[in-house]
This record gives sequence, C-alpha cells and structure tokens, in this order.
Amino acid sequence: KVYPSQSEASVDVANRIAAIITEKQKKGEKAVLGLATGATPVQVYKELVRLHKEEGLSFTNVVTFNLDEYYPMKPDADQSYVTFMNKNLFDHIDIPKENINIPDGTLPQDEIQAFCEAYEHKISELGGLDIQILGIGRTGHIGFNEPGSAPNSGTRLVILDDLTRRDASRDFGGKENVPTKAITMGVGTIFKAKEIILMAWNEKKADIVKKAIEGEISADIPATFLQLSDKVEFVLDKDAASQL
Ligand code: GLP
Repeated sequence: KVYPSQSEASVDVANRIAAIITEKQKKGEKAVLGLATGATPVQVYKELVRLHKEEGLSFTNVVTFNLDEYYPMKPDADQSYVTFMNKNLFDHIDIPKENINIPDGTLPQDEIQAFCEAYEHKISELGGLDIQILGIGRTGHIGFNEPGSAPNSGTRLVILDDLTRRDASRDFGGKENVPTKAITMGVGTIFKAKEIILMAWNEKKADIVKKAIEGEISADIPATFLQLSDKVEFVLDKDAASQL
C-alpha cells in the first residue's frame, strides 16, 4: 500500500493495531503485539498514544514483545530500546509493566540462549503474535536479522553489520560506540506472526524497498523472505515506493 505521506500511513497502521486490541478486549482475550524501534514506527506510537488519551483506547489487555535490543545494553541507557519504547509509547499508555517484553541486553553471554528460548516460548504460550510491525534497515535487515540470516532463524544473539552500525552512529556519538551485537527475534519468529506489516518512509529506503519486494529471495537481503508469506503487507510512503 502506497500512501501520499508517512503520517497518513502511520494513522492507518495505528488504527489496525487499535482494532486488534478492541476485538480481543471484546472477547476477553489478550492482544499480543510485536513491536519495532527506529524512526519508522514513531508516528504509529504517537497515534496510539493519542487514541489512548483522546479516545479511551485501553492497553490493559495488551502484551508486547519487542523485536530486538542491542547487546550489551543497560535498559536505562539513552540508546536502549527500553528507553526508546518507554519514551515513545509505554510511559504514555496504561499497559501493565509486566506485559512488556524486550530482549535483555544485560545478560551474561552464557545465559542468552536460554533467555531467547524462553522469549519464543512465552510468545507461543500466549497464542503467538497477533501482529508484528517492522521497519527495514538499509542492509535489508528486519529486526536485527542481518544478511546471512536463515528464514527459519529464531531469537538469538547476532553480530551487527557495518552499515547498520554506521546508521546508528548518530545516536551513539560515533560508530565506535555502537554495540557490535544485538539480541533479535529471528526471521522464523517474525514469520509466525498472524499478520506482518513492514513500514518504510523516505527516499533513502527506496532502493532497499525495491530489492525487498522485487529482488530475488535470498539471505543476502533477509527482508526478501517476506515475499514467501501471504500475511505480509508493505506500507510505504510515495518516496519509499518511488523505485517500484
Ligand atoms: C534498527 C532496528 C530495526 C529498524 C531499523 C531501521 O536497526 N533494529 O528494527 O527497522 O533500524 O531504522 P529506522 O526506522 O530508524 O530507519
């Protein structure tokens, strides 16, 4: 779906999420959301906060799982995805704190695998993700599934691509300060979601969006795996769609 602007697209995505939350509420069930960080979903979160504050949308039945976190990373650091999510969404809505799940960037290396397995288990126990929202990195990563990621990969510790670290360098005051690793849900984890929405805005994403949608399916560009699923929708502004 191509929209004239990022804001119109974001409002539509927020409404889709709100509809899932409301449907589940009516049935007395939990809505399980897969959330993303980065600049891309910020306006979606802003709209969800508005729906909460102005239209009474409640998040008390919502459980969230974030895609990824840098490793190592303290939750209270400025650049952590915990800080990002609190600032952009969680601090402004009524979601119970215990319903928020974000990969733990403080774990000792030898506890990461067990943590990742438990993360997957927790998602399945709740019946799976009702919706997963995604951005796309310029390497073609989704979450932090960098080139080389397998289509059936699970939640795990990964090494970040050089381009990804360069793109993050502004937040960290230099590439040398960007962590070299991250914990991310796998491509396989993302695929299990009942619905997947990948959003991309601006000219600078046009090239990778074209490759993701029209390119050959390959681990060189993990987002191309999304072509294999019929549960995926690409939501673009006209600039990100300009090369299609
Ligand atoms: C980061 C995140 C991804 C995100 C990507 C794009 O690397 N881990 O989940 O999709 O960046 O970021 P942005 O939305 O800022 O362009």
